[in-house]
Amino acid sequence: KYCTAIVLAAGQGKRMGSSIHKQFLELKGHPILYYSLQAFQDSPLVERMILVTGETEISYVKEEIVEKYQFDKVTDVIAGGAERYASVWNGLQTLERKLTEEEKDGFVFIHDGVRPFIHEEILRRAYDAVEEHHACVVGMPSKDTVKIADAEGFVRTTPARSLVWNIQTPQVFDFRLAHQAYAELEKSGRTDATDDAMIVEAFTDTKVKLVEGSYENIKITTPEDLEIAETFLRRR
Ligand code: CTP
Ligand code: MG
Repeated sequence: KYCTAIVLAAGQGKRMGSSIHKQFLELKGHPILYYSLQAFQDSPLVERMILVTGETEISYVKEEIVEKYQFDKVTDVIAGGAERYASVWNGLQTLERKLTEEEKDGFVFIHDGVRPFIHEEILRRAYDAVEEHHACVVGMPSKDTVKIADAEGFVRTTPARSLVWNIQTPQVFDFRLAHQAYAELEKSGRTDATDDAMIVEAFTDTKVKLVEGSYENIKITTPEDLEIAETFLRRR
């Protein structure tokens, strides 16, 4: 089926604390965002990409990333919103306007532009899962025990570690399901959504399938993640 990807690069990178937004920091001579886009560009599964970035970064991204690296699957570079879910919603609305009815029967991959270690096997596993289950998220079983805290900073409960997963991206859905869930979120005024699956969980009856990603599919979030990423790239 027809697959599109929404690649997110409209964040401010506050936890990274660098003057350049982290998606544009370089690893081995290329911006972090380049690696994420390259994986989708190379994938035979994906036909088209929507790249979401900061309003003032659009022309820079078009010239220095999309044109420079010839990412010809990127059909639109659009402005994001103040929160991640708002950036995703802008991407979904762009697709809603541009896709044909038949293309809308396909799937949408939503991916953090700051996860440069995504690769074809993960995309393939996600594709197989979304085909069967309509909604899936990539993640890995948690290596650490996780505790749920109360507001005072005391432990409330400890979920069984075998049932705890750390969630990554891509998160992949039937396009129409994702669009409908986000439209409901928009109407509800809820502002606590930190990933895409929780929106599908909250506003649809579809159960979200967990798919194995990889422990290398990290999100570059804080400065030490750059060192880890350099280590991974060194052995490529
Ligand atoms: N993102 C986005 N629009 C936003 C916020 C985040 O497109 N309004 C994107 C980021 O660019 C990133 C992904 O969502 O690719 C995951 O977000 P996160 O790691 O939280 O990035 P930032 O929000 O940039 O970082 P921070 O939370 O530390 O400010
Ligand atoms: Mg953030």
